[in-house]
Amino acid sequence: MKYNVENGAERIVSRSPHVETSPMKNKGRWHEIFGNNNPIYLELGMGRGDMIVNMAKQNPDINFIGLEINESQMVNAVTLLRSMNLKNIKLINTDARNIADIFDKEIDTIYLTFCDPWPKEEDEKKRFTHESYLKLYDRIFAGDRKHIILKTDNKGFFTYSLERLSAYFYIFNKVSLDLHHEEMPIKNVMTNFEKQYAKENRPIYYVDARYPR
Ligand SMILES: C[S@@+](CC[C@H](N)C(=O)[O-])C[C@H]1O[C@@H](n2cnc3c(N)ncnc32)[C@H](O)[C@@H]1O
Repeated sequence: MKYNVENGAERIVSRSPHVETSPMKNKGRWHEIFGNNNPIYLELGMGRGDMIVNMAKQNPDINFIGLEINESQMVNAVTLLRSMNLKNIKLINTDARNIADIFDKEIDTIYLTFCDPWPKEEDEKKRFTHESYLKLYDRIFAGDRKHIILKTDNKGFFTYSLERLSAYFYIFNKVSLDLHHEEMPIKNVMTNFEKQYAKENRPIYYVDARYPR
């Protein structure tokens, strides 16, 4: 079933104990909200959220936050979480543009997974690796350490992102032009889009970017 405003996505999402409905109130308090000092990983544009839910299940010593602008997409994650009793995951329904109002130097890793590539030049500012977003990330990363993991099927967006990250002094720990056919140091957990692309045998581009190394 496809969820939308008419058939209750808003209600389902806002009533979930995993969804933070006033996330700006938690700015600077996310470790307190999770009840520990474990690292916090944030996924922007989580969509249906399979990756972040499964990562939370597999990594109880890491806190995860999935952010998504479209509440009907979030119903899947909310439904998955109902039966799981996970304490290390929160979801937020908002525009990624708001992150600096929600977090204050609390995020250890940002996941950008299969984000909309916005190929038209006039839409460049909407790309999650545009300099305006990289500046926002600086405001939410814990301390001076930055860490972004990006996965995409879009070669143009990938090339653009490598250029932008490099110009912003990120260092590439690992780059892959075909993630699913390479030995990786860390187990890859697939997103919903990624599962579909894997079936189609499309190459997945990947970068693990840090500053400093
Ligand atoms: C192509 S989908 C990928 C979803 C998921 N990451 C995956 O790999 O399955 C991109 C997602 O980003 C969300 N999105 C786009 N712009 C956004 C924004 N400014 N803030 C938050 N989410 C956004 C869309 O609603 C959509 O769910």
